[in-house]
Amino acid sequence: MELQNARLLKTLAYIQGEWVAATSGRTFPVCNPYNGEALAEVPDMGAEETLSAIRAAHEAFLTWRHQSAGERAQLLKKWHALQLKYTEDLAHLLTLEQGKPLAEARAEVAYGASFVEWFAEEARRTRGDVIPAPDHNRRMLAMKQAVGVVAAITPWNFPNAMITRKVAPALAAGCTVVLKPAEDTPLSALALAELAQEAGFPPGIFNIITSKNPAPVGEELTRNPLVKKLSFTGSTKIGKLLMRQCSDTVKNISLELGGNAPFIVLEDADVESAVTGAMAAKYRNAGQTCICANRIYVHAKLADTFVKRLSEQSQNLKSGYGLEPGVEIGPMINKEAIQKVESLVAEALSQGAQVKTGGNIAGERNNFFQATVLHQVHANMRINREEIFGPVAPVYTFETEEEVIRLANDTPYGLAAYFYGQDIRRVWRVAEALDYGMVGVNTGRISSPLAPFGGVKESGIGREGGHYGIQEFMETKYICLGDMDA
Ligand code: SIN
Repeated sequence: MELQNARLLKTLAYIQGEWVAATSGRTFPVCNPYNGEALAEVPDMGAEETLSAIRAAHEAFLTWRHQSAGERAQLLKKWHALQLKYTEDLAHLLTLEQGKPLAEARAEVAYGASFVEWFAEEARRTRGDVIPAPDHNRRMLAMKQAVGVVAAITPWNFPNAMITRKVAPALAAGCTVVLKPAEDTPLSALALAELAQEAGFPPGIFNIITSKNPAPVGEELTRNPLVKKLSFTGSTKIGKLLMRQCSDTVKNISLELGGNAPFIVLEDADVESAVTGAMAAKYRNAGQTCICANRIYVHAKLADTFVKRLSEQSQNLKSGYGLEPGVEIGPMINKEAIQKVESLVAEALSQGAQVKTGGNIAGERNNFFQATVLHQVHANMRINREEIFGPVAPVYTFETEEEVIRLANDTPYGLAAYFYGQDIRRVWRVAEALDYGMVGVNTGRISSPLAPFGGVKESGIGREGGHYGIQEFMETKYICLGDMDA
């Protein structure tokens, strides 16, 4: 693999400021999802190394928590500048291990770095309150303090930005971190650690455990009492398991879990702009995001035009190797991912859905699924209830606002929803009625470091980004001063 700066390809884990192998000496390969070629071998660690990392993070926390917010902000700013400086290498690494097109990888690196910049600034704004006391001889205040050691477990779909979205606010708040990146994509995480080291973060502040077997690592991170907080992004199933494991030590938790996003095109929507929004909300990262449009509801009057335009545009998407110019859809992450999409589509077709474009694994390159539009899809199909996590756009039709709100909310998930419409009263009404943590109105792009990202119901707990993001890593301490009569 060729990087301009070869030192960003790290093949050891990072504990207490040292690059280390697994104690067993075992490694596992990180493979390019485009062709299955091994890019590198990284340490296959377990509970023992995780414990060392937790202890290192705990030691480091005892001093890091007392650094001034300004000092922490300075280091974060240096880290941010290095991420921008090495964007090309970070983006190449990301495309190689994850598959997304280079343009998307560059956008992710910029998105990831923007969290570091934002939380460097937020570090100085974690104010408390002075509370007017009910009597003369007391003074009451509430102050913010870092939670402590944070365990961060991050997914493969955004191997860079999902790390910075957790690590930057944690460090800004005065916490220290043990990170377990996804087994498919640890190289971006290790490159970020290399840049954190270069930025000058003291040893133990940011530690990374790599492992192909997440269970023992997750078990140690969630059960160890020195860890005070878990921040996890991944599936609802694993989120529930980790939540149960955290309960014995009553850890503070933030969970960003699965979604089943409705994308609604109301009767008075601008169809062309709704199609543009649906393309963005559906095909980003080959449909492998938690906020991808999963169920597209179009008013019956607009359905034919919408389906025609969406199918034309989907058909024109160029799929291929992410490093080739002009590629818009890369491969899916692995065989299991593609099999899941294939089975959802096959089942929907057997129950009466119609393919408008795509519908198959793309040719001989068997980690690709064609950009697919399905019509005549129904609520009782599995594709309606499960997160597709692939480039498949099922289109449903509806007649009334009440009906579509009911259908959209009829899911245990509540991460993101989107809708298109013009009437301002209805826009307000529908936005309020959708049981989701995030709602995009007349846009298919909602992600921003400035905004609170997160879900309700079984899509999660807590928010990342915005001024909310740093609060997740802080406790509120109430202090009551007695004997204060002047
Ligand atoms: C996700 O899919 O979990 C993250 C998407 C985003 O931050 O835009």
